[in-house]
Amino acid sequence: MNKIEIKPGIYYVGVVDWNLRNFHGYSIHKGTTYNAYLIVDDKIALIDTVKAPFAQELLDRISEIIDPAKIDYLISNHVEMDHSGAIPAVMNAAPNATLVTSDPNGLKGLKAHFGSNFEFEQVKAGDVISLGNRSLTFVATPMLHWPDNMVTYCPEEKILFSNDAFGQHYTSSKHFDDEVDYDKVISDAQGYYANILMPFGAQAKKALSIVEGLDIDIIAPSHGIIWRSHVKDIISLYHRYAGAETEDTALVIFDSMWHSTESMAHSIAEGFDRRGTKVLLLDLKENELSDIITEVLTARYVVVGSPTLNNGILPNVGGLLTYLKGLQPKSKKGFAFGSYGWGGQSVGIVNQALEDLGVEIIMDPVKINYIPSKEQLRELEDKIAAL
Ligand code: FEO
Repeated sequence: MNKIEIKPGIYYVGVVDWNLRNFHGYSIHKGTTYNAYLIVDDKIALIDTVKAPFAQELLDRISEIIDPAKIDYLISNHVEMDHSGAIPAVMNAAPNATLVTSDPNGLKGLKAHFGSNFEFEQVKAGDVISLGNRSLTFVATPMLHWPDNMVTYCPEEKILFSNDAFGQHYTSSKHFDDEVDYDKVISDAQGYYANILMPFGAQAKKALSIVEGLDIDIIAPSHGIIWRSHVKDIISLYHRYAGAETEDTALVIFDSMWHSTESMAHSIAEGFDRRGTKVLLLDLKENELSDIITEVLTARYVVVGSPTLNNGILPNVGGLLTYLKGLQPKSKKGFAFGSYGWGGQSVGIVNQALEDLGVEIIMDPVKINYIPSKEQLRELEDKIAAL
């Protein structure tokens, strides 16, 4: 196995999960990584582990560098099992190790997952563990995105081990931001924030204010590539995301039965285009929900269309609205649209869901009976263009 040293004596020992496509409901395209880091000093620390099925690969990587039995500290930044799943295997291989976790929620979570048969040490923000020449200190980041989350900072090496924060579901045999397709990594970082961290903007802002007080050369997250050449860029992007900053982009998101709602979507898109707004036309049948959410994060306009089906909305639109309800996007403007044969309840349902999300409604719901005429479509386009 290739030893991956991120600084002298500090190693990447994580694994690549090439085949994963569904990350608890978040569709990803090319797998992910579970990053763990080994610091070899007078004392030896392992920062985070990997998903349980990859425990042996983690131990094999560690064994290329040191005997796992020599690990003194296992730092668990986050209880979620993509990072904690191999804790029992590591603790079994390292009988003298202390399991370091956040006080109180890390301890509570780890005990609930793996029992109490470990030597635990609880840490709070600002606590320090000395490894000899280096030390580790901790920053609490609760609700980014679980109550237990913390990040670990090594001041002597200026490395922030940021766990989920600044991560991306990006797979590669390369490990640094200057070795891979940077635009793709940024796009994946946006997708990651949108699908996992979007509801927690206030907590992200607070964490960013602390992180900015640290001198950082490297951000080593627990998913994806390691930031060493673009540290300022990713922090700046997180500021934009946490502040719910939007771009002049409109998402026209819809599902359709017999193309009538689809025709309306096209007219709405043309209208936005005429007023100079960038438009993405997103058919829910053809686009992954997670990819749509990635665009929602930074779009100013979110316009949603459904025809009426069984006095309600199409299931794909229901899925979108349910997902959005959990993610609580901020600073959005939009409206509802759709066709109907009789009843015509769909636009009212979508409009109410958008209002409940806090979307600023910029137009009354638009509904058209059966098949829109050319005149109706032109009128709709003109209306949008004049917004
Ligand atoms: Fe990557 Fe919240 O676990």
